[in-house]
Parts: sequence; structure tokens; C-alpha cells
Amino acid sequence: MKKMNVGVVGAGFMGKAHCVALSNMPKLFPDAPYLPVFKTVCDIDPEIAVDFCVRFGFKGFCTDYMDIINDPEIDIVAVCTPNDSHAEIAIAALEAGKHVICEKPMAITVEQSKAMAEAAAKAFEKGKISMCGYQYRRVPAIEEAKKIIDSGAIGQLTNVRAQYLQSWSADPRSPLSWRFVKETAGAGTLGDIFTHALDIAQYLAGDVTELVSMVKTYIKERPVQEGGVDLLGTVKLGDDAKKQAVDVDDEVSILCKYAGGAIGSVEATRMAWGRNNYITIEVHGTKGSITWNYERLNELEVCYGMDDEDGARGFRKIYTGPANPHGDVTWNIPGMNIGYGELKAIEAYDFAKAVEGGYQPTTTFEVGYQISKVCDAILKSDEVHGWVTVE
Ligand SMILES: NC(=O)c1ccc[n+]([C@@H]2O[C@H](COP(=O)([O-])OP(=O)(O)OC[C@H]3O[C@@H](n4cnc5c(N)ncnc54)[C@H](O)[C@@H]3O)[C@@H](O)[C@H]2O)c1
Repeated sequence: MKKMNVGVVGAGFMGKAHCVALSNMPKLFPDAPYLPVFKTVCDIDPEIAVDFCVRFGFKGFCTDYMDIINDPEIDIVAVCTPNDSHAEIAIAALEAGKHVICEKPMAITVEQSKAMAEAAAKAFEKGKISMCGYQYRRVPAIEEAKKIIDSGAIGQLTNVRAQYLQSWSADPRSPLSWRFVKETAGAGTLGDIFTHALDIAQYLAGDVTELVSMVKTYIKERPVQEGGVDLLGTVKLGDDAKKQAVDVDDEVSILCKYAGGAIGSVEATRMAWGRNNYITIEVHGTKGSITWNYERLNELEVCYGMDDEDGARGFRKIYTGPANPHGDVTWNIPGMNIGYGELKAIEAYDFAKAVEGGYQPTTTFEVGYQISKVCDAILKSDEVHGWVTVE
């Protein structure tokens, strides 16, 4: 089997997610195009880099990502650092002739995202592939929903509502990590999780063309977490901890129009007690509806409204499995279920197939750039208190 050397930059939550996915990808997909080889892991924190290197079986580690960029033996770079460094690392990797998978949000400004999309287009002319980590559109149930919508079975879409609700930062003792600082994160909930819900909605209904937004910050200062990986609210700091002002949002809501003709809404918050990874989508069409919730990600609910008799109409539940998109990765029987790990393996597989086939996979850097433009329009709309057109 062909081997491809991988360099991973950033050894936190997403470094782990990508490495678990890369090692599982050839095991789950019989036609996986290559065996990823863990060559070098980079983290600015040497202790984190060494620990990760040992646990994942990397051949070496470094603390400067340029060591990965300058290594001619590395074929693929996974960018898993906080948002402010995505642009410089991804562009350098593409210019050095690597294939690049970069976590979302793609960058902290529209200008950076534009530069990344341009670098990706240039690299593609030389056969180099890039992808942005909006993996939720690859959930088999969402892929099935897309098939149903494209077949016309639920008619013309009228309304698409998407939500991403979490609670890990609802407690004011939840520490201020890089995710709460504009300089490193670019935005708060907006870039972190709103963009995932937006990507699913746009995948199903077309790009958002016009919107009106509300953007709120509820907890104005938090106790500071000193360095390391973001502990995502798993640790609470006491009153004696140093405090710092939060300069990003906690919650975002938009009403919007989609290019496909539907209207709808997208909202996200990290302040919803009781909600954990509650990503939902509800799609209404002229002939039926679809609904889905990530917390039950293997279940797609579909109502073929025009086919059912009055009195017998309702949602049918489809448990996704081998017969649905990306069935290889699912276990033998619907209901045995997949989770986040398999989802990231699907992403790694789609990326590998694109590398093998020489085509750009979905969630290109162009998609990442378009999402950045919507985020920019959201901030503008909140500022002017009115509808804005997405550039
Ligand atoms: N797709 C998803 O579902 C998903 C989920 C979580 C995070 N993310 C994204 O993944 C990225 C990383 O988030 P995370 O949760 O893994 O963060 P994290 O805090 O868990 O880990 C980040 C790691 O990067 C290291 N680092 C920081 N700057 C670096 C640099 N310049 N060079 C090398 N290492 C550096 C830190 O020391 C830390 O170990 C972010 O862009 C985030 O938005 C995506």
C-alpha cells in the first residue's frame, strides 16, 4: 500500500482527532488510497509535543512548524493550531508543495481567508489538495438528507433552520483560553461553532445571500488559563485567579435568505445549560420535511408530507448504516452507530480520495473563504442593526 508522510501542527484536541482519524482511515475504508505515516508532530509547547509524539508513534517532534514545511519527505500537513496561525502555516505548506487539511474557522479575517483560497487555487494547479475541517456535512445522515433534497422528494425548500448549542462556557468560572481572545480566535462562538451550523445549512440550501444578525457577549471577563490546550470548561478557576476581559461573542443569531430560495435562521451559543453538542437542522420543503440532531447523529427523520394520509402523517426515523453515504465506515447493522471519531475518519478518507484522484474535495478553502464572508456580514449587520448583503 502506498505510504504518505504526515506532519501535524498543534497537538491538542484537534491534533488528537486528526491522528485518530488518520490511523483509522485505512482500517475502516478497504479502498483507502494510502497508509498515513506519522512523521513529525509540532507544538509550541515542547512537553505537549513530546508526549504526543510518543503516544501516537510519530518519528519525531518539533516546536517550530517550519521544520515540517521544510521537510521534503512530508506530503501532508494537518493544521490544528488556534485560529490566528492557520493562514501562515497553511499558505507556507501549500507553497512548499504539501497537501493541506486545515481546521476551521479557516482564519481570523476575511483577508487571510482570501489569501488562503488564492494559495489553494495556485497549489491545485500543481496537483496539491486542500480542505477545511467542516466535517459535520459529512455525517452520513446529513449526506442522506442532501440526497433526499436533491432528488426533489421533499419539494422546493422553503425554510432551513440550523442551531449549534453548547454549555461548556456557561459557567463564569470556566477559564479564559485562546478561544475567548479576539487576537487568537478572531471571534467567539461565531467562528468556533456557528460556522459549523452555517456550513450544514449552506450545504443543504445554498449560500446565505442576505442576513440580519444579533451578536451578544454575556460574560465580560473570565479567570485566565495560562497556556496549554484549551480545557473547554472542564476546569473551573476560583475567585483568586487573574481575570481578563473577554473581547469575543458568546452567542450569535441570524435570520437569512439562501441562494436556493429558502429563508431561515442559524444560531449558536456556548451558554445553553443542558445542551452539549446540540447541532440541529430542520428543513421544510413544499412536499416534506427533514430534521436531525448531532446528539443522535445516526438518526435522520423525514416526513414525506404529501405521501401520507391525514391522520397518519409524521416523521419516519432512518437509522443510518451500510446502505447510506459513507456506509463503509459504519458498522454492519444500522443502529450500531458511529461517533465523532468515525466522522473525522470519513473526512480523512474524502481528503485521501481527492489526493489520489487529483480533485478538490468539498469544504475547499473557497468554502472556508465564503464562510468568512458570511461571518464578516454578521458582524456588520449587528453593528448597523440591519439587513446586509453578503459580499
Ligand atoms: N472541526 C472541529 O470539530 C473542531 C473542534 C475543535 C476545534 N477545532 C479547531 O481546531 C483548531 C485547534 O483547536 P483545539 O481545540 O485543538 O485547540 P487546543 O487548545 O486543544 O490545542 C491547540 C494546540 O496548538 C498548540 N499551538 C498553538 N500555537 C501553535 C503554533 N503556532 N505552532 C504549533 N503549535 C501551536 C498549543 O500549544 C496546543 O497544544 C482551532 O482552529 C479550532 O477552532 C475544530
